[in-house]
Amino acid sequence: MKKLVVASLAMMFALSISATKKAKTIPLQFNPTNGVKASLTMPNGNVVNYTAYTKLYFVTNVEDSTYQYMNIFVPEGASQDAPIFLRTYVGGYMASEAGYPQAQDASGRALAEGYVLAIPGSRGRSSTVTKGKKTIYTGRAPKALLDLKAAIRYLRHFDQLIPGDAEKIITDGTSAGGAMSSLMGATGNNPAYAPLLKAMGAADERDDVFASVCFCPITDLDHADMAYEWLYGNTDSRKSLSTTKQTLTQELASQFPAYLNSLHLKKTDGTPINADNYLDYIKQIIIKSAQEAKDAGADIPDSIGFSFSSEANFQAPVNGGMGKKRPMDMPRMGKKPMGGMPMMMQKRVGEYITDLDMAKYLNYVVNTQPLKSVPAFDSYHVDGAEASAENSEFGNTQGSNVNFTVWSAAKAGTTLSDEVKENARLLNPMNFIGDESTTVAPHWYIRHGARDRDTSFPISVNLATKLQNSGKDVNFKLPWNRPHSGDYSLNELFSWIKSILPAK
Ligand code: DHB
Repeated sequence: MKKLVVASLAMMFALSISATKKAKTIPLQFNPTNGVKASLTMPNGNVVNYTAYTKLYFVTNVEDSTYQYMNIFVPEGASQDAPIFLRTYVGGYMASEAGYPQAQDASGRALAEGYVLAIPGSRGRSSTVTKGKKTIYTGRAPKALLDLKAAIRYLRHFDQLIPGDAEKIITDGTSAGGAMSSLMGATGNNPAYAPLLKAMGAADERDDVFASVCFCPITDLDHADMAYEWLYGNTDSRKSLSTTKQTLTQELASQFPAYLNSLHLKKTDGTPINADNYLDYIKQIIIKSAQEAKDAGADIPDSIGFSFSSEANFQAPVNGGMGKKRPMDMPRMGKKPMGGMPMMMQKRVGEYITDLDMAKYLNYVVNTQPLKSVPAFDSYHVDGAEASAENSEFGNTQGSNVNFTVWSAAKAGTTLSDEVKENARLLNPMNFIGDESTTVAPHWYIRHGARDRDTSFPISVNLATKLQNSGKDVNFKLPWNRPHSGDYSLNELFSWIKSILPAK
């Protein structure tokens, strides 16, 4: 008898352990009466009143209750028709907890514009849960994206109950968050994610979005190393590296032209982009942004590679000129030269940037902040290097670091598993643009600062160009003098958002 009691107690104990090991199952729910009123004071002193709905779990099989929920904020007066601004705070590919509106960034501004604001949490490379004595990493690739997609599905699932229109979701993020925003925009409804989302207990809904706002997206990770060395490999900073590292730089850089050519990108006038004209393509984008800044009064010095039209001789140095005295017989625009024709049609060419020495410019960029080491992303065990954030992003549930490019894996003496290859594929928006089984967002706003070296210009340039080429509406700039940052020039961002919203 005693034996039987002990045996059944042991069994109950075992059952209760296995129950605690099981993921929590919470049905999806949204209760409109659960809102809490609060307010946010904007930088201009305006107060925005809103109702907060918090801790909204967006999957039924919650594995990590710290992260897998969303907070939603509804500003006073928002109707069912309002756009929904979805801000992810993912950074460094780390886990990100559902947050609250910030007056200083795009989240607060979205509320002030009368948009419904959604801030989902998401698991990341750093998030863990404990099962028994084991630590399980819950957020390795592509888990953060899956959480964000589940949040989008939740917004659609409860679209009738939550104010705002789930057909007007605008995603926004910076850096790794910019990558996540680009992925939400580029992978809508792709079937490869469906079984993973189903297993998590995400709502059975579409997960495409209306617009994607990407600040300095750290993405296309499988080609980021080659692009980095192709762009920066000839800078003075790379020349001071050891010969071993310089060889790595050259090997990586030499892989980029074939990749670029494989994209078959085109300029807006239809001219094919290839490795021969690509640097000039980037140069024109930088000149455009510098010119825009100059027109707004910025001081663009020629010492960093810019050439100005001869008229610059007569411009004040603050406008990029030399400040020389204009000869009497050289008229300004609109003035009649002595005895000559009026000059109305002539441009004041001195205000124009005519060229940019890219070698000089790239040296300037890397002099403002040191480059990443070689390789910049898939570094783990390559020439003895440490693991990067990205190596841990592709690691497993035990917290390993792994290589995710064939080249680095070979240098490290390993190969890529099929699982890692698939995870890298699922985490790269470039793979889904133009794909027939994917609903790519129709509107894009992409920014990568003109002196941001966290990843190289080609990453954003290629993303924007591929989207443009596939017929999407793309607003893209390499904003002048911007380092690695996001949610800036909010007037520009929000007037763009207004321009893409259907007329009322
Ligand atoms: C971030 C920055 C990086 O340089 C990087 O490699 C990955 C992520 C970030 O700020 O999110």
